[in-house]
Amino acid sequence: MPSIPLIKILADGGLHSGQDLARALGVSRTAVWKQLSHLEEQGLEIKRIKGQGYSLAGPLDLLDSDALLGWVPGHARDGIDLHLHQSLASTNDCLSDYPSAKPFTVCLAERQTTGRGRRGRPWHSPFARNLYLSLAYDSARGVSGLDGLSLVIGVAVTRALTTMGAAGLSIKWPNDIWMGGRKLAGILVELSGDLQTRCRVVLGLGLNVYMGAEDAASIDQPWTSLAQEGAVPQGGRNEVAGTILSELVNALGQFEQAGFMAFREQWDRLDALKGRDVCVLGQTTSGVGLGIDERGAYCLETESGKVSLNAGEVSIRVENSAP
Ligand code: BTN
Repeated sequence: MPSIPLIKILADGGLHSGQDLARALGVSRTAVWKQLSHLEEQGLEIKRIKGQGYSLAGPLDLLDSDALLGWVPGHARDGIDLHLHQSLASTNDCLSDYPSAKPFTVCLAERQTTGRGRRGRPWHSPFARNLYLSLAYDSARGVSGLDGLSLVIGVAVTRALTTMGAAGLSIKWPNDIWMGGRKLAGILVELSGDLQTRCRVVLGLGLNVYMGAEDAASIDQPWTSLAQEGAVPQGGRNEVAGTILSELVNALGQFEQAGFMAFREQWDRLDALKGRDVCVLGQTTSGVGLGIDERGAYCLETESGKVSLNAGEVSIRVENSAP
């Protein structure tokens, strides 16, 4: 992508003359101008100061494969085939393009043009503000052995964030990560292939790192970001992505061997809904959160008795309280 070197230069947030940029990139000033326009099309704000040059509105914390993998211990790193993109429609959709000899194929993008959330909702994905990370692997458990997988992924992400010093984390069933009672991250799990024996698992994580109010006007539920919570680690987005990747690789290996039971107790401790009045979106069902069963379904005490809800089929909201 021609504008990657340009963006790396501008990422310091400083002012750069057209002449300096052209020299550093080895292209004409017209080519620099075109690349700047391309960055603007990607949603970046470029300041043009007459007679002086160009700068971004502020510094950018860009993803970098080497820096990111530097946060992944060797044994986990060896199993990962990593692909980093400037812009993609959706990181969940590109993984089939990379047949890989390694167990885990991972794809990250600085932005997504049509990022997808659960239940067909869009996932807002501005450039270099957050993490958009997808991981694919083949599971030998078959679809019936994958009960609770999406909850396990939530536990792994929460473990990683805790390692980096984040506090006040909880999980809203099945796998929304909350921080201080607001949504910090969401997870989308998609299965394909032979669902009885081997199947392909693609998991996508969207995690708010620097997202500000100006980036997020279209989000319709209470949200937060690591920056808002004062929880961005020193190594920035590369540390966040690398640490999460390590935990995911460990947790998926453990899940493949032992299934959901190895994670159930930890998920229980993170349950954001237990004891709270909740309702099921788009249905009349409402009740008090009881927690999960051994398959990872969520149980509610309703007026007509105990009801259990399957992930993928429903979405729960907390009633009469913020958020
Ligand atoms: C949710 O609705 O909470 C799940 C959001 C999942 C978003 C991530 S961002 C990376 C990956 N690519 C997508 O298009 N979606 C997931």
